[in-house]
Amino acid sequence: MNKVVLASNNSHKLKEIQQILKDFDYELISMKEAGLDLEVEENGLTFEENSLIKAKAVSEALNVITIADDSGLMVEALKGEPGVYSARYAGEPSNTEHNNQKLLRELKDVPKEQRQAKFVSVITMYYPDGKTIVARGEAHGTIGYAYKGTQGFGYDPLFIDNETQKTFAELTEEEKNAISHRAKALEKLRGLLND
Ligand code: IMP
Repeated sequence: MNKVVLASNNSHKLKEIQQILKDFDYELISMKEAGLDLEVEENGLTFEENSLIKAKAVSEALNVITIADDSGLMVEALKGEPGVYSARYAGEPSNTEHNNQKLLRELKDVPKEQRQAKFVSVITMYYPDGKTIVARGEAHGTIGYAYKGTQGFGYDPLFIDNETQKTFAELTEEEKNAISHRAKALEKLRGLLND
């Protein structure tokens, strides 16, 4: 079976992607398992650019097929922020609690009907010969006024999914992985691989 390395040091993403792709025809392993310790600078201005930067850097370092996810939250009332800066919204080093508190502060006076947001995930599969397959997924919702739920990671306790009217942090792993932006992008990727 072909090995695919996930170009990410985020253990939450690794777990989600492995769960979603559990019946995938490739063996999906982490950078650590592949023996690579690499911090890739994400200096792109779009999810597409950053996803490619990560997938390409790791593929070139190991000479293997890679998958990268670049994702983030886009809030309408904040003109699409934090967007590609989601991980470091409140500054570096990345801190989830600070990011969530900043988001709540920025939206303090924004009424419920203006709190629309979406999670975006852009998955890039990169081959050593330079071939790339790119798939984008989005999940739509609103931003709450306080944390709800304890599952997931990042902005999950503040993101109320439109379909379930629950935050992603209130969903089980399986429930989130059935509807998330990442799941939608990976579903598309599978379709593109079968073309
Ligand atoms: P990346 O590693 O540059 O793609 O950063 C993604 C950042 O977006 C994460 O650190 C989170 O802050 C946020 N994010 C992406 N996907 C999710 C998700 O599924 N739930 C909550 N936050 C997410």
